[in-house]
Amino acid sequence: LHRFQVEKDRKYIVDTLLTGLSRLEYRVRAFRHRCAARIALDGDQEGQVLIYKQVGKVAALRKRIDEDKNLDMTKTFVSHTSMAHTRWATHGQPSERNSHPHRSDPKNEFLVVHNGIITNYKELRTVLEKKGYVFESETDTECIAKLAKYLYDSQKGAKLSMTSLIKAVAKELEGAFALIIKSTHFPHEIIATRRGSPLLIGVKTAKKLKVDFVDVEFGGGEGAEKLAEEEGNLLTPADPQHPKIRRTHSRAFLSEDGMPQPIEYFMASDPSAIVEHTKRVLYLEDDDIAHINEGELHIHRLRREDGMSSIRSIQTLEMEIAEIMKGSFDHFMQKEIYEQPESVVNTMRGRINFEDGTVNLGGLKSYLSTIRRCRRIVFVACGTSYHSCVASRATFEELTEIPVSVELASDFLDRRTPIFRDDVCIFVSQSGETADTILALRYCLERGALCVGVTNTVGSSISRETHCGVHINAGPEIGVASTKAYTSQYIALIMMALQLSADRISMAQRRKQIIDDLHELPKYIKETLALDGDLRTLAKETLLKEKSLLIMGRGYQNATCLEGALKIKEVSYMHSEGILAGELKHGPLALIDENMPVILIMTKDSLYPKVQSALQQVTARKGQPIIICNKDDAGISEKFRTIRVPQIVDCLQGIINIIPLQLLSYHLAVMNGVDVDFPRNLAKSVTVE
Ligand code: F6R
Repeated sequence: LHRFQVEKDRKYIVDTLLTGLSRLEYRVRAFRHRCAARIALDGDQEGQVLIYKQVGKVAALRKRIDEDKNLDMTKTFVSHTSMAHTRWATHGQPSERNSHPHRSDPKNEFLVVHNGIITNYKELRTVLEKKGYVFESETDTECIAKLAKYLYDSQKGAKLSMTSLIKAVAKELEGAFALIIKSTHFPHEIIATRRGSPLLIGVKTAKKLKVDFVDVEFGGGEGAEKLAEEEGNLLTPADPQHPKIRRTHSRAFLSEDGMPQPIEYFMASDPSAIVEHTKRVLYLEDDDIAHINEGELHIHRLRREDGMSSIRSIQTLEMEIAEIMKGSFDHFMQKEIYEQPESVVNTMRGRINFEDGTVNLGGLKSYLSTIRRCRRIVFVACGTSYHSCVASRATFEELTEIPVSVELASDFLDRRTPIFRDDVCIFVSQSGETADTILALRYCLERGALCVGVTNTVGSSISRETHCGVHINAGPEIGVASTKAYTSQYIALIMMALQLSADRISMAQRRKQIIDDLHELPKYIKETLALDGDLRTLAKETLLKEKSLLIMGRGYQNATCLEGALKIKEVSYMHSEGILAGELKHGPLALIDENMPVILIMTKDSLYPKVQSALQQVTARKGQPIIICNKDDAGISEKFRTIRVPQIVDCLQGIINIIPLQLLSYHLAVMNGVDVDFPRNLAKSVTVE
């Protein structure tokens, strides 16, 4: 946040930041106490910075600030830069030590808040440590603050501007980031920059402001010289259809007498943090460097020659806070289904080198030889997480040639399953807090097995109590029905199998095929999401009035059937069952007649002829299945309703095939009037047995 030319007291500044943070708490809501927050404020003297930090909810941070009797809340400021952060951890435990902003040194010369993941942080840290920097946290973020100081100190003679300095820093960073940087060397300045992670700037000006549009360009070409007057927070010129603003637009904020107007800028990763202050926002693009200095905003490009337009449009947020948190989606479940092209990339980011075909899951590095030598691998999980294990089991066995068993945590415990020291047990859990899975983990720890965690929640019980593991990095999942976590778990397990089989020459061809298709996956997911309209129609016209739905398939698609049926039951309340097509003759065929709704998964793989035979068995009993097949499959009769999806390597096809079923369950739920994100009787994190 940056304020300019407004005499405001410190209480106002603290309140603004803390309210913004509490609006962001929805991101960590599903993970309850697993967060930490920090705030950095200008001190009483020029160049002084005060930092407050606290593990837990934002309310706890507020309490800590209130308890500081030396902090003068009535002190006023004309210009002030400050920042705050609530952390949903990606590196290191949620703790005061790991909370942001991170600093370059004890004098707080450079302070950084960061969302995202810096994938080359280990290399940067090693270089900086060699130069004598002592790190205070386990985070990837701290290396950014230290790098800024290092570059500043080494260029001191050159009197670098803050923008040039941060450009140099950003050029060294790999991975995803949204950064806000403050420095005691540049007391009235602040910088925001992003690559891959969202970042926006809200602008609030005083009421009744005359605007000089000298530096503002309108898409419609009209009105560029006009002065406009408007009530409220003003930035939109006369033609609201095309409000565009140049890279250096700061002089837009002049009053009638040519004096700069009081402005507050709010930089945030999410509009919910700022919408109560202003609805006028501009979204930064990748590699924009937004620099605010004494109330002027200038947006620079990291590289001049990249050809990106210099125009950023100011948008007016029209949604209310609850809606903004969901973006343009009606429910978190829908948002999370649609996030999958990005969430799968985040799972793979920095771990797969698509050029040389190597996979490197840092968390497993020291345990690879133990895992390769083990006598068997046991997957343990519940619900959707269990299905991700079922989905990747065959690939694990094929690539590693180690026997794999898949266990539901509750049943595994009920049976007191024998576990030995030379077993490797892999615990898969989105929340990392599922009681059954944790109990199974402790059971295996007691028996001396190597325990590996696969979770979406850094600092969760499962990630703390396992010997090693992988974070799926799918981002917070709020909807009770798990969607993007499933596809990310699936990929994380496939990556694990790829890493374990790296030295198997006989698998080289197969590994290459899988890695090549992992690279294409986001494109195919997007293509599949485009079927949304058809699935909505299917839900409305064909399935809404039905009482039951059978989902059939075999081989790799067994997991898709189980997971699809779980999605349908839990959010639409319709009975649904996943059936292994190979088992049809052993019972389920009795259910089939002309009235029983069936979805048959029939995408191309080595079992295709066997699924064709299942189709015959169903149609011979007058069944009329809806068929999920590949888009160019000409062998399916026109009489069947089809859902046509792109084809990908057989062992990844389940990631594509689950998407129509996620969308179908979502639409059925909405049409049935279900509270989609909070279906009855269910909780996001099942912390009781
Ligand atoms: C279904 C669903 C649940 C969870 C299960 C395990 O959509 O979300 O079946 O998968 O409760 O939860 P985690 O993965 O947090 O251990």
